[in-house]
Amino acid sequence: MYFDAVRSFREKFHVEPEVVSFAPGRVNLIGEHTDYNDGFVFPAAIDRGVWVAMSRCDGSSELWSEEAGGPVRFTSDSLTPGSVTGWGAYPAGVAWSLSDAGTVPDVRAVVLSDLPTGSGLSSSAAIELAFACSWNSLEGFGIPPQELALKCQRAENGFVGMACGVMDQTASALGRRGHALLLDTRSLETDYRPLPEGVSIVVCHTGKSRELAGSKYNERRAECTEAARLLGIPSLREATPNLLAENSQSLPGVILRRALHVVTENQRCLEFAKALGSGDLRHLGDLMSESQMNLRNNYEVSCIELDSMVEAAVRSEGCIGARMTGAGFGGACVALVRTGSVPAFLSDTEARYRAEVPGFEPSFLVTEAADGARTVTDLTFRQEFLGNSGQTISKPPSDMERD
Ligand code: GLA
Repeated sequence: MYFDAVRSFREKFHVEPEVVSFAPGRVNLIGEHTDYNDGFVFPAAIDRGVWVAMSRCDGSSELWSEEAGGPVRFTSDSLTPGSVTGWGAYPAGVAWSLSDAGTVPDVRAVVLSDLPTGSGLSSSAAIELAFACSWNSLEGFGIPPQELALKCQRAENGFVGMACGVMDQTASALGRRGHALLLDTRSLETDYRPLPEGVSIVVCHTGKSRELAGSKYNERRAECTEAARLLGIPSLREATPNLLAENSQSLPGVILRRALHVVTENQRCLEFAKALGSGDLRHLGDLMSESQMNLRNNYEVSCIELDSMVEAAVRSEGCIGARMTGAGFGGACVALVRTGSVPAFLSDTEARYRAEVPGFEPSFLVTEAADGARTVTDLTFRQEFLGNSGQTISKPPSDMERD
């Protein structure tokens, strides 16, 4: 897709892009709705994502998306939250957020994606990181990946108006091939854990796109803040099962259930990392099932379609475990599947899901844990996408006809 991005840029603007960047989507293996509670998460970047080809320009910025259209126009130095809406709010928000690092130039850019949107694979974080990497490299800001992730989160919180945590941006920025990332969202400490050989990640999309995700998400976040306030602690990270038991009579029922999910999910996330290390696949599966149960009953972010997909997946051949991934309210679940059984798993799961939930079109993506966001001058990137030619490609050659 690198060449598609270059070609598309050239067709649109009749000049060469100065920089091309890629940022991946992510799946979260476990640790759901814990990142905005200072908790633990365990995502992996995947081998699908968003490409951005970009050049500086005079006058206002002009952005096009192959999928979502355009043009989106804005002037970098006069951005205020709410001044750009739709998909353009993500890159505009990044320009707004990066402006404390220096002057963010206006640009022409095209965006290409091979991430299914609305599936909970974080296409928004991938767009943000792809733009952030491009501006970072164009202007030589030298912002390290973790800080770039925080700036992208700030773009989403302060400009787009989505009160997300830092998981998606961190996974997209810091992903590592073959590894999941155990992230402590309070200290921002990261710990890469290798995924077992012979286990594949399968994303099972319900066909139901995420509804009300923004408003319900912000509502859940407010409920957690309220839980921490009533418990007299800075965040639910400080809560323990004992503290919840002691306060179970005084806390409103809904608040107690939200807190129960968060507290136990943090424990599950750490246990999951341990079980991964010791190769205890059965325990991994049990933890994923418990996570799903809590997300359904206590946190109430699942739905019939997600529950049915998880149920279909865990009953299918080769499945180690499955649960919804991302914010919920539609979208996809993630399943860990024995690699040799993937074809049987796909047909079993699809047949079960279709029988249970008629009227929705499920889709499946077999993916791998992959590296994080980067620009075209990066060495690993060159080797992966362009072959190990040993040439530094800071500007794409002008006569590229092929992929
Ligand atoms: C969305 C948010 C993340 C995280 C998940 C739920 O993906 O962007 O920050 O809160 O939902 O775990």
